[in-house]
Amino acid sequence: EQIEKGGYEHFMLKEIYEQPNVIKDTYRGRLLANSGIIQMAGIEDNIEKFLNADRILIIACGTSWHAGLVAEYIIEEFARIPVEVEYASEFRYRNPIITNKDVVIAISQSGETADTLAAIKLSKEKGAFVFGVCNVVGSSISRETHAGAYTHAGPEIGVASTKAFTTQITVLTMMALRLAKAKGTISNSDFHRYLLELEVIPEKVMEALQTNDISKEIAAIYKDAPNCLYLGRGYNFPVALEGALKLKEISYIHAEGYPAAEMKHGPIALIDEKMPVVVIAPKQNHYDKVVSNIQEIKSRSGKIIAIVTKGDVQVKDLADHVIEIPDSSDALSPLLTTIPLQLLSYHIAVMRGCNVDQPRNLAKSVTVE
Ligand code: G6P
Repeated sequence: EQIEKGGYEHFMLKEIYEQPNVIKDTYRGRLLANSGIIQMAGIEDNIEKFLNADRILIIACGTSWHAGLVAEYIIEEFARIPVEVEYASEFRYRNPIITNKDVVIAISQSGETADTLAAIKLSKEKGAFVFGVCNVVGSSISRETHAGAYTHAGPEIGVASTKAFTTQITVLTMMALRLAKAKGTISNSDFHRYLLELEVIPEKVMEALQTNDISKEIAAIYKDAPNCLYLGRGYNFPVALEGALKLKEISYIHAEGYPAAEMKHGPIALIDEKMPVVVIAPKQNHYDKVVSNIQEIKSRSGKIIAIVTKGDVQVKDLADHVIEIPDSSDALSPLLTTIPLQLLSYHIAVMRGCNVDQPRNLAKSVTVE
């Protein structure tokens, strides 16, 4: 097992550090940035299905559901196709409206999650075209779907998903850009720009991994907190949910992710000097709004841990701690903002003496209801 861990103390840490490489493995052969091409066999063969779809329904569970939320933002922004994201467990039992004009995207690392599998079967019965985004080759979900695209994350052993999440986002981003190109909803120059940016994302992820030391220092300060709040806007709202899930899963600290602007409709009541608030605040579209959310937390004495773009000054002035990540466009930022949140949870869990790779009560893949 020590050999399999490749010198890392836990599988989770090893898998966090594998992300630059596995993101590259996932886009290899599909993203030809210099030629301005994205080609994914499962999409090319079925492009009409996507272009004629009334809407895209994304079904998944857990971390894969969070990747689905990121995909909703990116597909709607670029390809202008309406997207709905559902928990597979809810979808299958609520007599949903599905037609043969729907495209269903099922996202699953293991390809074995019982609820997702059942939701796929239901969608097929109702005539929808079902596309899978799976990591495990030959898994039940990859066999049950009409077509699909694999993530190439390699085996993920740690129960808390890390590299599967970022490779799912990589696949879904390529899909969104490919569909946008086919629909003509993205300009050639933007398309090319995003392709080039995606190509250098692994280097930026590598740079984001250098936040390990500062994440560890911050972890030492907050490891005994009973609660933690995660806030983000836009593309980083799903990242806030994922950050909170990671902390809950492996450190057993109660954590909640929220859209930053929704804070005033509830969670703000919880903020006092004992409450750490992780705010994802890269220098992007909603930056000024996030800055005012941070001011609201500060005026209630909450402790602010901010994820910011390198060189940021405004948030740095307000926050108790900042973690700097490389600059990127809005749409690609989840691939970077996720990294310090994974590291923060990891270090907190280790310091609390938790079983990081096999947290209590959780399974890597839930094959029963
Ligand atoms: C379990 C795992 C999670 C995972 C979820 C969905 O809860 O512990 O890490 O996100 O199942 O699994 P899937 O394999 O379908 O992505």
